Amino acid sequence: MLSALSGEAAKTPPLWLMRQAGRFLPEYRAIRADVPSFLDMCYTPDLATEVTLQPIRRFGFDAAILFSDILVVPDALGQEVWFAEGEGPKLVPLRNSADIDRLQPDAIHETLSPVYQTVRNLSKALPSETTLIGFAGAPWTVATYMIEGGSSRDFFIAKSWAYSEPERFQALIDILVDATAQYLIEQVNAGAEVVQLFDSWAGVLPEKMFRRWVIEPTTRLAALFRAIHPDIPIIGFPRGAGLNYEAYAAETGVTAIGLDTTISGAWATQFGLPVQGNLDPAYILCGGESMVAAARRVMDSFGDAPFIFNLGHGVNKDTPPEHVTELVATVRSWRR
Ligand code: CP3
Repeated sequence: MLSALSGEAAKTPPLWLMRQAGRFLPEYRAIRADVPSFLDMCYTPDLATEVTLQPIRRFGFDAAILFSDILVVPDALGQEVWFAEGEGPKLVPLRNSADIDRLQPDAIHETLSPVYQTVRNLSKALPSETTLIGFAGAPWTVATYMIEGGSSRDFFIAKSWAYSEPERFQALIDILVDATAQYLIEQVNAGAEVVQLFDSWAGVLPEKMFRRWVIEPTTRLAALFRAIHPDIPIIGFPRGAGLNYEAYAAETGVTAIGLDTTISGAWATQFGLPVQGNLDPAYILCGGESMVAAARRVMDSFGDAPFIFNLGHGVNKDTPPEHVTELVATVRSWRR
């Protein structure tokens, strides 16, 4: 994983999957069933450590991703966050400048210290050949949850702020750039070897707004992080960015690019950075020959470029684990 991120093209690619720890695994559901709230899982180091390790034990992936969530940052800033069973995340939405002023950027590490403890546990528990990935949500994506009060279909409330009151929106983005950089720096201090920035809703912005609310904050965040940890790779994942992927790769300063399912490997490798992706998670839901053929097509599409095999988005919760076992065998037996 680290060689691929340093630009080395191996014969067989390193492999991990977004949402590799989670509800598709019976051993995850068994632990989750006894914990009242999802955030408690994230803030209980023994549980978070255990569920991070589960997919490593079962599938032998090359990297483990810290078990947590992108919404621990708004929670740590003092916004109320909860996960309603079957409904996804809920937040008491920010409605005005006073709500932004009430956020507490100086106190985040208090709430987040159990996450750092999980990273320290993992750093000890993982085999030396398994890379430990820390992560955070990117400012734009996290801001959408904070303003919309949860997931959104159209992002009208967040966009209205961003388009009509850019100074007010900028104040929130600035808080997130800073807090997220501090959060990732602390994850690395605790033992994370790579960090990934999830910009899950990067794709909903028009080009000019993509520059202002995705590229610009990500560039500043990467620079703040690099000032402390110059040698730690950053994987940027601007999901849905389409043609804007190219400018994101050229301008943000990330080390590698996570590709969503729509991006062609042949195009993305021209950006000159290592790439990660991008099998459609629907293929591992179906499994079988169509999955095997699609996984090989993904690997072939990267040509001679360094790449990390992954999905284009997270594992779906109804995915049979045996399909993942077959996917791993397919990737492990492929040669450039
Ligand atoms: O295995 C891993 O990838 C590590 C853990 C991880 C989780 N969330 C655990 C989780 C990671 C990296 C995330 C990132 C995350 N969280 C993103 C970015 C990636 C993406 O999916 O676009 C986003 C947008 C979130 C916010 C979030 N968290 C949503 C929208 C939901 C509800 C949707 C759902 O799948 O239920 C969550 C909950 C969540 N985060 C779960 C897990 C395992 C399921 C909750 C549960 O177990 O009850």
